[in-house]
Amino acid sequence: MKVLSVVGARPQFVKLAPIHKALVAKGHQHVIVHTGQHYDPDMSDIFFTDLGIPQPTQNLHVGSGSHGAQTATMLTGLEASFLEHKPDWVLVYGDTNSTLAAAIAAVKIHQPLAHLEAGLRSFNRRMPEEHNRILTDHASDLLLAPTEVAMNHLRHEGLAERTVVVGDVMTDVCFQTRDKVATQPPEMPNNWISDTPYVVATIHRQENTDDKQRLTEIIQYLSASTTPVRLLAHPRLKAKAQEFGVALQHGSVSVFDPLAYPQLVSAVMHSHGVVTDSGGLQKEAFLLGVPCITVRTETEWTETIDLGWNTLIPECDQPIDTVFSEQREVSAAHPYGTGNAAQRAVEELEKWHLQHG
Ligand code: UD1
Repeated sequence: MKVLSVVGARPQFVKLAPIHKALVAKGHQHVIVHTGQHYDPDMSDIFFTDLGIPQPTQNLHVGSGSHGAQTATMLTGLEASFLEHKPDWVLVYGDTNSTLAAAIAAVKIHQPLAHLEAGLRSFNRRMPEEHNRILTDHASDLLLAPTEVAMNHLRHEGLAERTVVVGDVMTDVCFQTRDKVATQPPEMPNNWISDTPYVVATIHRQENTDDKQRLTEIIQYLSASTTPVRLLAHPRLKAKAQEFGVALQHGSVSVFDPLAYPQLVSAVMHSHGVVTDSGGLQKEAFLLGVPCITVRTETEWTETIDLGWNTLIPECDQPIDTVFSEQREVSAAHPYGTGNAAQRAVEELEKWHLQHG
């Protein structure tokens, strides 16, 4: 079986790693097409190196742009790529503009399409990711859902027959990396002091970064923490803070560049807690047993809230230290699987291909 994976943004490289391993273990051919949506070395290359993923077969180098322009450039490049490689499957990941472009390009040329991490919903139609994931789910032939909650969303949308719950591949990679860094601690950035308490923070979503007042409010919230906050600044955050004249390095906040994946896992494991608007990081905090504050009005990963490890604080009105000092029970539940999701996903791709290929 020949599988063509389309990736473009940081979280997709993380999800790609266990899938690549599982495909190779079963002797399948794996073509990796990078759209170039993320292009800074610390947002892209470093993930390939650290997570043992081979260099992409092709990079479309689309770079940044408005949603429409970026997606359209990808669509054109991906159509040509699919026609050239003629894979048995196009596999898309998550909810970025790269995901949607690949989904549209694939269905238009009747190319079998599978969506990994299908069925997530925030029910917030202002989020670009929400359109991307809904449109991609409805275009796909096979929907690989990470959780029962995701399965239920797809059932309500009439997509149950095309869906299987395989677990979450982020669990696979997070647990593998956690075990690895326990014996081989990664080298941390120069001014990273490991033996004092700290909070890890990331803010990158358009709704939090692209409005001056909102961004100022979030930085004030972080800076008021008693525990020092290490803000891992996404390029969008840096660019917007500069444009608005908002100082990120303020009060308790120290600014760091984005971390490599093993560094991030190690940083979270040893932290007091995480403050973020990232979907992936909320779940990584949960998987690593660290409390999380999510600076959004809703989350796709509702299990982290139900189990008491994640708190939505969109108004930035509950002190970080108070939230993190609450006692939490370690849960025996595994809503995101136990670490074999990639293998399950590959089995489902094989099964469908045997029946329909
Ligand atoms: C994208 C995804 C988001 C995901 C995030 C992970 C969409 C709609 N959003 O958001 O779901 O959570 O990736 O990081 O696809 N930039 C750089 N260098 C880079 C990449 C981006 O400087 O390597 C800057 C550019 O100014 C760019 C901005 O960041 O305009 C935003 O990048 P973009 O890829 O459009 O979206 P993200 O915010 O990264």
